[in-house]
This record gives sequence, C-alpha cells and structure tokens, in this order.
Amino acid sequence: MKKTDVLILLFFISVIISSCKEKPITFNYDETIIEDAEAQYALLSHSVYSGFKSKNFIPRTIKDIGGISYVNIYDWTSGFYAGSLWYLNFLTENPKWEQLALKYTKRLDSIQYWIGNHDIGFMIECSYGNALKKLPSKAFDSVIVQSAKSLSTRFRPNAGIIQSWNASQKWNCPVIIDNMMNLELLFHATKISGDSTYYNLAVSHADKTLENHFRVDNSSYHVLNYDINNGNVLIKNTHQGLADDSAWSRGQSWGLYGFTVCYRETKDKRYLEQALKIAEFIKTHPNLPKDNIPYWDYNAPNQSDTPRDASAAAIAASALYELSGFLKSQGNEYKTFADEIMFNLCSPSYFADNGTNAGFLLKHSVGSLPHGVEVDVPLNYADYYFLEALYRLKQLNE
Ligand code: GLY
Repeated sequence: MKKTDVLILLFFISVIISSCKEKPITFNYDETIIEDAEAQYALLSHSVYSGFKSKNFIPRTIKDIGGISYVNIYDWTSGFYAGSLWYLNFLTENPKWEQLALKYTKRLDSIQYWIGNHDIGFMIECSYGNALKKLPSKAFDSVIVQSAKSLSTRFRPNAGIIQSWNASQKWNCPVIIDNMMNLELLFHATKISGDSTYYNLAVSHADKTLENHFRVDNSSYHVLNYDINNGNVLIKNTHQGLADDSAWSRGQSWGLYGFTVCYRETKDKRYLEQALKIAEFIKTHPNLPKDNIPYWDYNAPNQSDTPRDASAAAIAASALYELSGFLKSQGNEYKTFADEIMFNLCSPSYFADNGTNAGFLLKHSVGSLPHGVEVDVPLNYADYYFLEALYRLKQLNE
C-alpha cells in the first residue's frame, strides 16, 4: 500500500471512530414538554381545588393507597405548589396559571410569622418571591421582610449560624445543609428594606457552612450539631442519608444551589468555588448512573433496584443552569451536564404519561428512605425545580 493510501485509510478510520464516540446530549427547549406539563397540572389543580377550603390543601405527593397526599401551610413544602404554578405562568404566559398561583400564594400569608423551624425561606421565596417577579407589590415586599425577620430569630450569634430545627434529645442546635436554601430570603429582604442585617446573617451562615459542613471530597454532611455558646461542632450526622459519612443526594443538590445563590447575591468567589466543587463531585461521581439521575444517596448500592431521586436531579439541573451563566467557556460544561439531566427527566422514564401520577410531573423521587417515607414517588418540590430549570433554560436560550 502506498504511503498516501495509508494516510487516507487512517483519516477515514479516525472519522469513523470519532463519530462513534458518545456525543453530549443537547437538550433543546421543547414546547411539547410544556404542553404536557400544563395538561398534568390541569389535572392536579382540578383535584386540588375541590379541597382548597380545607386546612390541608397543598398537594405534596401521592399516598401509598393512591390519591393525593395534602399538607397544610406549615409543612416545609407548602410554597412549592404555588411556585410551580408561577413557573407554568412564566413559561406559558397563560393567565390561568397566574390567577391560580396568586390564590395559593396568598393562602400562605400567615407563614411570614412562622418561627418553628428554618423552612420559611423555601415556603416564602417559592411563593411570594416568585409572585414578586411578576407583580411588584408593597404588600408582598412586606411579607418578604417580615419572613426574614422571623427567620432571623433562629440566628445564634455566638455560633454564627441559623438553627435549622429545634433542640431534640439528639441535637441541641442542628444545622442541615438544606438550610443554605433559606438564605435567598434574607438577601431578598435586604434588597427590599435596605437593612443589611439580613444579608450579614446569610453571609455568616454561609461562611460557617463552608467551614464545617464539607468533607475533603467536597461532599457534605447532612446534620451538624453546634454548641450554641461558641460555635464548636459537636457531631456530624445524617438524618435522611444512608450513613453519617455518606453523601445524601438531595443534600448535595441543596448545597450546590445554595452556594450558587450566595455567589449571585455577594459575588464572593469563595462561594462560586464551592459551588463548582460540588458540581464536580456530582458530575464525576463513580456511582452516578449513566442517565445522570442519582440514586437517593451517592453511597447507595449501584444496582437496578436502588431508588433514584429525581428531585435531587431537578434541583441540581436548575442550579447548574444558573451556575453556567456565571462562567465563561467553562459554563458550557455545566450547561451540557444540566441538559443531560433534563433530557432524561423529560423522557418517559421520569416524566409521567398524561393523566397518570395524580397530575404530578416527575416520577421516582425519594423523601426520606431511612424513615421509609415517600420512597419512589412524585414530590411537589421535584416538579418545582424541574419547572424552574426549564424556565432558566428558556432564559439562557433567549
Ligand atoms: N429539606 C428537607 C428535604 O430535603 O427533605
């Protein structure tokens, strides 16, 4: 064979090999998924509305025996249904969703005084926080500021953290990684009121979390018990994970999302670096299944009957879209990763067939496996972050 023939042959072989390599999935924003989401939420809202006047009127998941499981306004998930309705409105501009979102947002009015745990950030930012993106209102502003005041009552100055749950037999002052999600409320309140107190509490809490919550591999513990007098960490445990030293999947997503928000609000590079480290932990984890939807805990057995957690995937995708926007060319890598997650969440393996799943969008989430609660079910927060991710993708594309 002549030298030129060999070169031509090598060229064709390399073309064939490179075309056989797996290409990254590009998830294009597709209107049909929005139409399917609208159809599902039309079904869900139809069932829900008949119970609007009862105390438990917010759909959270489905019951073991079938049918929707409802919660009242004090449940930590109470803001997600209103939030999903807001995102449906933002995505479709259909006023029907705005009217419904407003109704379910206003029903949460008294939550602004809730001091029973740290979850008020989730409850109020997903409902009133989103309402304010559409309808500027002094009344809603004041709900945000009052809610931040309520959350501030849980700040422990000597430890520099916001206490997540009340003292129990096990923990005096527990702080969970999820608490990073409540800081957005504090940043928001400072922007509205001009009072930097809320901002400073958020920064203090984020700094302590940075200092104490992470391991050398950049995964995070779930629960830290603080000494309220001096800020010493007494013990590091889990509550919803496989083990104290395992990486509970949703916790990793809360950390990623929370530090991305902290970077957005402060432009402090340390928060961006932490978000990137968490993103890398998730993206390169050897136990992450091929479709990028994690098992409920990254240390759970890598086998087909281990439950996945679509909620952890949706939260991560939404955070990654925001994170990618803060980066130059490196951002493409995280956007592609988010696209891959969303591509799979939109597939029939995770996205419910029309008319099924009681109207919820996503299947296969886990609430708390160690407690045997909400295993392999739809969850209102999985839907919320999924819709938020779609909306963020839409904004990125525009
Ligand atoms: N914040 C509670 C949970 O993620 O289950």
